[in-house]
Formats: sequence, C-alpha cells, structure tokens
Amino acid sequence: MRVLSVASEAYPLVKTGGLADVVGALPAALAPHGVETTTLLPGYPAVVRTLQRPAVARRWDALLGVPARLLKGHIDGHPLLVLDAPDLFARDGGPYADATAADWPDNWRRFAALGRAAADIAGEYDLVHAHDWQGATAAAYLRYDDSVVPSVLTIHNIAFQGRYDAAVFAGLELPETAFALDGVEYYGGVGLLKAGLASADAITTVSPSYADEIRRPEFGMGLEGLIEARGDRVTGIVNGIDPAVWKPATDTTLPACYTARTLSRRRANKRALEAAFDLEPGDGPVFVVVSRLTWQKGMDVLAGAIDALVAMGGRLALLGSGDAALESAFLSARTRHPGRIGVRIGYDEALSHLLQGGGDAILIPSRFEPCGLTQLYGLAYGCVPVVARTGGLADTVIDANEAAVAAGVATGVQFGDVTVDALVRALRRTTGLYEQRDVWTTMQRQGMRADFGWTRSGARYAALYRSLIAA
Ligand code: ADP
Ligand code: GLC
Repeated sequence: MRVLSVASEAYPLVKTGGLADVVGALPAALAPHGVETTTLLPGYPAVVRTLQRPAVARRWDALLGVPARLLKGHIDGHPLLVLDAPDLFARDGGPYADATAADWPDNWRRFAALGRAAADIAGEYDLVHAHDWQGATAAAYLRYDDSVVPSVLTIHNIAFQGRYDAAVFAGLELPETAFALDGVEYYGGVGLLKAGLASADAITTVSPSYADEIRRPEFGMGLEGLIEARGDRVTGIVNGIDPAVWKPATDTTLPACYTARTLSRRRANKRALEAAFDLEPGDGPVFVVVSRLTWQKGMDVLAGAIDALVAMGGRLALLGSGDAALESAFLSARTRHPGRIGVRIGYDEALSHLLQGGGDAILIPSRFEPCGLTQLYGLAYGCVPVVARTGGLADTVIDANEAAVAAGVATGVQFGDVTVDALVRALRRTTGLYEQRDVWTTMQRQGMRADFGWTRSGARYAALYRSLIAA
C-alpha cells in the first residue's frame, strides 16, 4: 500500500513541536504493516538544502498562481517529496512566521498550495494522510476533484485552525459550491482545517481522550459541532515515540546511557544538567520543563507555583520559548532564586534529551493536550511525569494514588484543575513520593517498561487505511 503523508513539519528536517516527531516517525512505524509512506513537505530553505541533486518529479507553471516543482529526496531512508515554490517558501524565519514571530500573511496560500500539490499527485498513491490545518486542504481538493483516492486527516491540535477572511476563497481555486456550510465556509470566513474535517473520509486525533474532548465546546474551539456530526469517523490513535531517537540505553547525546536496571547511572546526567542550568548540586528533586511557553501548556500556572516549588526544597530546570511575558516571568524567577531555578530560553534538541535523562520529574500542567510527547519521553527516560489530567496526558500516565502505588503500577502524578493550588499540591505529592526511594524507583521502572513504541498505533493506522481503501 502506498500512502502520501502531507504535513508542514517532519523531524529531523523541520520541527517546531510534536507534529514533526510524529510525521517523522510514521514511515518507519507503518513499514512493518506493508505501508510505504512518502512524506510531502513544503520547500523551506532548510529542507531544500538537504536535498542532493534532486530529481524533479513534477512542475507547475502556476500552482495557485505561483511556479512550483516537486523535488525527490529521502527522510531517514523513506521517500520524500519537497514542494519547491520559492514565492511561497524561500524566506528567512520559521515555517509559519517571520523572524519577529508574526505569521506570514499568505499562510493560507502557502499551505493550500501544499494541499493542491498533494491532490494533483494523489493518483500515484492508494491514500492521502494529511496532518493539521496545513495539510487539511489536501482532503478538500480531493473531494472537490471527485477523486477516488481516500483521505485521512489527523488533528494534532484543534486550536490551530487556519482561519482566514472570505476574500481568500477565490485564491484557493475551488469550485464556488465549496464556499458552503458543509465545505470551506467557517463563521462567514474560510476555515482550512474545517474544510478538511468536512471532506476527509476519516478523521483521527492523537489520543482517545482528546477524541472525546473535542466533541465539547470547552475543547472543540468552535469545531465541536462538526466533530460531533462526523460521528464515528472520528477516532483517537495515541502517538508513539521513535526508539531510534528516544531511548536512554543508546542515547549518545547523554553523558551516561542507562536502562531500568542501571538507574544509578542517571546521577552523572543529573550533575551535567545542574551544571548546564547553573543549579546548585544536590540530591533533592530537580523538576524539568521542555515546552512551548504558552497558555495551552499552563506555563502561567507554573510561573505562579515556582516560589512554592523552591520553598519545598525543589529545583527547576526549564527549556522553552514562546510568549514574551512568560519568558520574562521565568527569567525573573531565576533572578529571585539563583541556584534553584535554571532557565534556557530557546530551542535545543540535545539539551531536551539531557533534561529527560538527568531530571527527576517533568512538569506538564497543560490546559489541553491532544497527546503530548514530552511525558512519553519522560516515561521512557525515568523522568517521572507530573501532568494535568487531560487529553493524551490522562491516557498515558498512571497516577500514583494509593492503590496504584500498592500494586506497583503507578508511573507518574496526575492532577485535576490547572490552577496554582492544584499544581502546588501535586508538587508536594511528588516530593513526598521522591523521598520514598523504593516507591520512586518502582515508578521510574514502571514507566520505562511501559510500551510507548509505535507497534500498536502503527497497526491501527494501517488498519484504518485498509478499511478506507477497501470501501
Ligand atoms: P507540542 O507539539 O504541543 O508543542 P508535544 O509534547 O507533542 O507538544 O511535543 C513537543 C516536542 O517539541 C517534543 O519533542 C519536545 O521535546 C520538543 N520541544 C518543545 N520545546 C522545546 C525546546 N525549547 N527545545 C527542544 N525541544 C523542544
Ligand atoms: C500537537 C499537540 C500535542 C501532540 C502533537 C503531536 O502539537 O499539541 O499534544 O503531541 O501535536 O501529535
């Protein structure tokens, strides 16, 4: 079976978050199930640069108005197609925004062109799998082309919807009939995610809990009605993690590799982590954060809990970037608590491994979390996750309540409301568990033994693909 996977990021070529990890891992996850995945990415300069003497698979004089070509390459040994359209993608800055973090005003055209290109070549594949609003138009173009090729759309985060003014509709080059309630039209404007959700043959999201949550207004963010209407075409398939990248036994970015049986080797990583973050060395717990610094991630709540965290003997090492106000809140906490709070503003893949491999507990107080990957990395690395009970966090972490601790099955700490009080209570509970060394070690080992590889979820995607191709 040949599948075209359409996305705006894929590790290791371009990454701003978990979407890239998942899109990057899918080809290898699906291969054992007889699926050959070709990944289609936008031709950002950093992606085009990795191609060596690429063959040209296709050319357009005007793809939504601009010249474009498709270049062939490889991503981790799997087929890759890159949409080289300099008018859209040859720019400095990030995939979605310029150097000042302002979204490119023509993002609708940039990613609609990606979807249009996918639909144009879809005939060479058995199925198209689109990701998030940036890939979603692929499903809409296939539908309005009357294509026989089925489509799957995966929602990694329904908060990002690709909403634009109705004026952009003409530029999408869809038939007039597509500007309708069951098409592209969204609250009077254009909704690119909405267009995909209304068009795809199947919709998945990245955890079963989130699949339920987005049927409700608190999480559906305006799309709950459509999600509900699409009924059992919407399912949750939890993300896996890529053991080639995230495995402490073979992680060469760490000062010391280790397994569940050699946890004491983590000490060397903890010392390196303390040094990297200017923390005073010690045996008390080091909490860590690797996150976008945003409201979704509950980072304002964490900022409010920092003084209490320090007062209970904790230290914190935080790596992240995002909202300017949150960045400065953490930097000022570092000034208040030298040696206890360490902060790195920025994006650093290697340092994120050291935090998981040397930290004691990773804090994830998200207000919503479609799946979340950092808790899965934490589990694999013996860095105990402390998480809000929502979405994929609720589905993947087993709370250390009395029964779970007694049965030896706990893997982390969950808390309910995302408030400073609830987080502080969770931190206190975590510190208490940390002091019971046997209990803590059992939790670490349970997490490390849990299977968050791609075997089960890869099989579920493959089964979904098959059901659509057969239909
Ligand atoms: P989201 O995609 O919503 O940001 P996830 O938990 O699914 O959340 O994925 C985040 C991914 O980005 C993980 O691989 C995490 O390690 C990585 N990450 C987030 N912030 C940083 C950072 N500042 N430096 C390095 N990696 C980061
Ligand atoms: C999104 C979500 C995150 C999820 C990731 C990969 O970025 O915010 O929860 O893990 O996509 O699916």
